[in-house]
Amino acid sequence: MKILLFSIILFLIFNFGSTADVFDYYHFKMMWPLSDCVNAPNCSVPDWYKTFSIHTFVPRTDANIPVNCTPSYPFNETEISTFKTLLSILWPDFWDFANPEDFWATNWVNHGTCALSELGTEENYFQHALILRAYTSAGDFLANANIVPSDSVAYSYHLIDIAVRAATGKLATIHCRGMGDKIILHEIGFCFDKQFNMFDCSQELRTQEGSDCPQNIYDSSIYYIQHLSS
Ligand SMILES: *[C@@H]1O[C@H](CO)[C@@H](O)[C@H](O)[C@H]1NC(C)=O
Ligand SMILES: *[C@@H]1O[C@H](CO)[C@@H](O)[C@H](O)[C@H]1NC(C)=O
Repeated sequence: MKILLFSIILFLIFNFGSTADVFDYYHFKMMWPLSDCVNAPNCSVPDWYKTFSIHTFVPRTDANIPVNCTPSYPFNETEISTFKTLLSILWPDFWDFANPEDFWATNWVNHGTCALSELGTEENYFQHALILRAYTSAGDFLANANIVPSDSVAYSYHLIDIAVRAATGKLATIHCRGMGDKIILHEIGFCFDKQFNMFDCSQELRTQEGSDCPQNIYDSSIYYIQHLSS
């Protein structure tokens, strides 16, 4: 009985000590900006912006996303001042293109502070996002397989999946959403271990992320849109 009680106490202490700040890998999601602006009148993509952009950089466990990790470490703009211009191009906020700070702050508080045990600082979190961006040029991966933005040609999940895998050697996540009666490509997400080696995203995560994409191998109905329409 004493041993059992002792074990329970140990378990509680261990669990309390490790609830914050525990994760297994990173999920780095690139988005097609136009698709993010569907049904959002205050969201707009500058005409010159023709590539995928960073959407989120999320430390995860297999089961979930840690939340409210160390919100006591607030977003501090000074920490990223030396590469702010680059960040505003590669990780823009299409809801307020000139002022992306709030979007970055949300990502930092909700996600970045969950990786403090590995990344240490806010500066390091955002610098790593820029580094990972260099290995996750989703638009180029698709273009290599002749998958290009079009409002009239649609693609299959399988083709998009194969194109990304051919470029990186790894399985990614694909997220779709609706635009009127169309299904459109929204995000392509990549999985990195704590040493920043890309690895195959788990089938569980791929299924969860791809739940709004038609996945039948013969179903070519996913649009990679060139323009917004309702
Ligand atoms: C769009 O922006 C305006 C002005 O900032 C705001 O009043 C409105 O609530 C916003 N609409 C949506 C749907 O967010
Ligand atoms: C923000 O970061 C800068 C540079 O690291 C530091 O000097 C400053 O004290 C920080 N500000 C706050 C409010 O923590």
